[in-house]
Amino acid sequence: PSIAAVIPAAGVGKRMQADRPKQYLRLHGKTILEHSVKPLLAIEAVKQLYLALSPDDPYFAATSLTSRQLIRVDGGAERVNSVLNALMQIDAEQMPWVLVHDAARPLVRVEDIEQLISRCLAVGHGGILATPVRDTMKRGQTLVTHTVERNELWHALTPQFFPTVLLRQSIAAALAAGVTITDEASAMEWAGEPVLLVEGHSDNLKITRPADLQLAAFYLEQNR
Ligand code: C5P
Repeated sequence: PSIAAVIPAAGVGKRMQADRPKQYLRLHGKTILEHSVKPLLAIEAVKQLYLALSPDDPYFAATSLTSRQLIRVDGGAERVNSVLNALMQIDAEQMPWVLVHDAARPLVRVEDIEQLISRCLAVGHGGILATPVRDTMKRGQTLVTHTVERNELWHALTPQFFPTVLLRQSIAAALAAGVTITDEASAMEWAGEPVLLVEGHSDNLKITRPADLQLAAFYLEQNR
């Protein structure tokens, strides 16, 4: 099937303490956004890429991203609103499946995205890239109340891959119900839809704090 990709890139990235949103910081001569877009466009089945940008974004025009597969939409107040704005534009008959990927994850591998797509298509429902939690996990405020069983804990990464119509309906319904949505999967879970965990590489990090940029540069220099 043909696949649409959505990249929410309308955030301001306050935690980076930089002069511009983190997706426009440079990593090896290119913006983080350019790194994040590239592996998605390398997937043959990805026929359209929707980019949610702030309406007054002054940085996008200076990037090399002019591919005719890119469709610009306005971002919203939160990540989920940016994603929903893009989903509303997709013709689901032409693009029955959608990949949603953070603009701030420049290191995702094409092979991991291909795994996610093929595993989900094989089971016939959506899923996410994830990595197993390796630290011992505690719950508590000041004192530990208990140790959380780690065997079943995963870090949710992106991309996340779902049937277009189901994802659009689930996000809209979850928002209307006032549910907090931090990734696409949480809307699908809330709607009772299955979400497959597909193990990806843990170096697919999200650039959040200044040190993450140095770590990402280090990973890029490795022969991955
Ligand atoms: O801030 P955080 O790392 O959670 O943002 C994840 C992604 O969501 C980033 O790519 C950011 O640009 C995007 N985002 C958005 N619209 C918002 C807030 C965040 O597209 N209102």
